[in-house]
Amino acid sequence: MACETCTCIGEITDEQREKVREIIDHYKGKPGVLIQTLHEAQQVVGYLPREIQVMIAEGLDVPLSEVYSVVTFYALFSLKPKGRNVISVCKGTACYVKGVDAIMEKLEDDLGVRGEDTTDDGKFSVEIVRCMGACGLGPVVRVNEDIYARVKPDQMKEILDKYE
Ligand code: FES
Repeated sequence: MACETCTCIGEITDEQREKVREIIDHYKGKPGVLIQTLHEAQQVVGYLPREIQVMIAEGLDVPLSEVYSVVTFYALFSLKPKGRNVISVCKGTACYVKGVDAIMEKLEDDLGVRGEDTTDDGKFSVEIVRCMGACGLGPVVRVNEDIYARVKPDQMKEILDKYE
């Protein structure tokens, strides 16, 4: 089902719906549980489409506008499903010092994303990680399972061209 708040085409299974209902039932009536409920629901579904936001708003008896505000405020939450390829950009200290910000800017410009985000065509998701344990090789970028070391911004296009 396509949701109304973005261009995603993700499908939610009945099993995922059932698990989200169980999470809501677990937290129902307890104070200050919205973020935790959203977090656990996202772990089940992979993102937080409108249908899931409505379920949580109704289940926890909070306004949908409040749910939407929280989802869009925290970078942790995503309105879109993960892309076919996940680009992990290391923003640990060593990679930061070696210029990873310039790589991030290049990605944002080339892919039309902002921070942790998914391209509208669903081809790539960008996520930020804190150290991949290869600090001496920074800046480090991982695409799916492939690690790229000492990456320069102008290499990103060539790297991403390898992925469908
Ligand atoms: S800080 Fe990037 S690999 Fe350690």
